Amino acid sequence: MNVSDKKRNAAKASLEFIKPGTSLGVGTGSTVNFLIELLPQVRDRIDSIVSSSKASTALLEGLGFKVSTLNEVGDIDLYIDGTDESNKRLQLIKGGGGALTREKVLAAAARRFVCIADDSKLVGMLGGFPLPIEVLPMAQELVSRRMLKMRGHPIWREGFITDNGNHILDVSDLQISNPIEMEARINRIPGVVTVGIFADRPADVLLLGDDDGVREMRV
Ligand code: 5RP
Repeated sequence: MNVSDKKRNAAKASLEFIKPGTSLGVGTGSTVNFLIELLPQVRDRIDSIVSSSKASTALLEGLGFKVSTLNEVGDIDLYIDGTDESNKRLQLIKGGGGALTREKVLAAAARRFVCIADDSKLVGMLGGFPLPIEVLPMAQELVSRRMLKMRGHPIWREGFITDNGNHILDVSDLQISNPIEMEARINRIPGVVTVGIFADRPADVLLLGDDDGVREMRV
């Protein structure tokens, strides 16, 4: 099965988690785009929608959904999003699409976080995928130097501005053996807006599309 089919199958499986009256948070990325295409099938079960990016908002509005702000909705019942990596504890690296800050806010506000992905995203240890960090533009060099001290190799995602007006550093070669500790440590660097480690608030459910269908993992 090709990767797109695996992503589409995982997205389809996540529809089961949308119960009548759900306030739904929608993530960002190619896997979530499959979910967005399928959402009209369950429109009558959705009470409200909050989005993690301008890109997802545009797709949702194109399908006739009203997108509310998190401030209007309050905590949400369910957040569905993709990932760049997940370990067995459903701790994630996210931000390949650059939407990590709003994604982390929605994950924090969600009673349940369902992650959808193809099976290549499941890894033994996080860090093979370069870790995205959203930084204030004026702090980009400071944060880069701190990452070098942590034996990472930061690259500025040149030309990319986040929905919040900030820059992204992609940091390779970090050994993320303790994701909770590393998330907290990087968050403490002045100028870091959000680090793409989702360990303090991991996913609750991981739906992995593979050659046989969809495998469900829980912590
Ligand atoms: C965007 C993300 C995405 O969830 C992540 O990059 C996965 O993307 P895709 O579904 O295209 O593989 O974190 O910021």
